[in-house]
Amino acid sequence: ARTVLIDCDPGHDDAIALLLAQGNPLIDLVAVSTVAGNQTLAKVTRNAQAIAAAGGFSHVPIAQGASRGLITEPFVAEEIHGETGLDGPQLPSAQAELDPRHGVNLIIDTVMSRPARTVTLVATGPLTNLALAVRLEPRIVERVQEVVFMGGAINGGNYTPVAEFNIAVDPEAAHVVVHENWDVTMVGLDVTHQALATPRVRTALAAVGTRPAQIVGEMLDFYGAAYTESQGFEHPPVHDPVAVALVIDPTVLTVRRAVLDVSLAEGPTRGMTVADLRSPAPEGCRTRVAVGLDADRYWELVVDALTRIGEP
Ligand code: BDR
Ligand code: CA
Repeated sequence: ARTVLIDCDPGHDDAIALLLAQGNPLIDLVAVSTVAGNQTLAKVTRNAQAIAAAGGFSHVPIAQGASRGLITEPFVAEEIHGETGLDGPQLPSAQAELDPRHGVNLIIDTVMSRPARTVTLVATGPLTNLALAVRLEPRIVERVQEVVFMGGAINGGNYTPVAEFNIAVDPEAAHVVVHENWDVTMVGLDVTHQALATPRVRTALAAVGTRPAQIVGEMLDFYGAAYTESQGFEHPPVHDPVAVALVIDPTVLTVRRAVLDVSLAEGPTRGMTVADLRSPAPEGCRTRVAVGLDADRYWELVVDALTRIGEP
């Protein structure tokens, strides 16, 4: 199994990403760090603990990371994730104490205490913690196996016309992460907007019949209605688990190697990710972007993970 740390801001789709990682036998989820994004740091951290309790992984250390972006003022996505950051289901309370370390130190310790190139960092929120971690302990860069983040897009945004939320919240952090000399894959809106929780998907999830699957259903009820209201989607895109799916099975996505950059300019392009797909990437390019998704296979993985989690 692949050793994975998830850095997240749960968040409905982050919560499903955690459950996918926990339930899939090819992933060993060893740590979770949280970052302000969809809601305040306190709220998203409490949500991570609640999902750990619901999904039966309270033994996995969870540590609080950054409470705001490096330079940007704090902002949250209440219109999509509600006042709690995870509106909808009644969630269990935390079963374990938070890890006393700062989330950034949990990332560093997880990478440095394990054999070189065995830990994969999956980020499903703003990239603040990852950026701080590489600045605090630069040796993690050559030590990780790879970094996969949900965020950005090759074309178009959701928070602004050209910027996706996770990048818009902290463009400077994203800039740090994509420019380090490690293998980084961007799983952006181009593919996650194909990861739609359609009625067929909802039926398959409901058929699992367990409490965690029911929680996912209740989350998708709220999240789906919010997506319809605020962004006009008929069925909601479930972004974050797509990054986890890539680690489980690379064939779920089509990925291309491409030079990647993040616009830090003030004005309308701020937070835009720019992938150069004009020609084959230059030798030594270590950034990749997802360009295609096998949505059926993706949802099979989510249903399978919930089936394996059962009633923890
Ligand atoms: C991203 O923004 C958040 O609202 C979601 O959790 C996801 O990580 C999608 O733009
Ligand atoms: Ca997220």
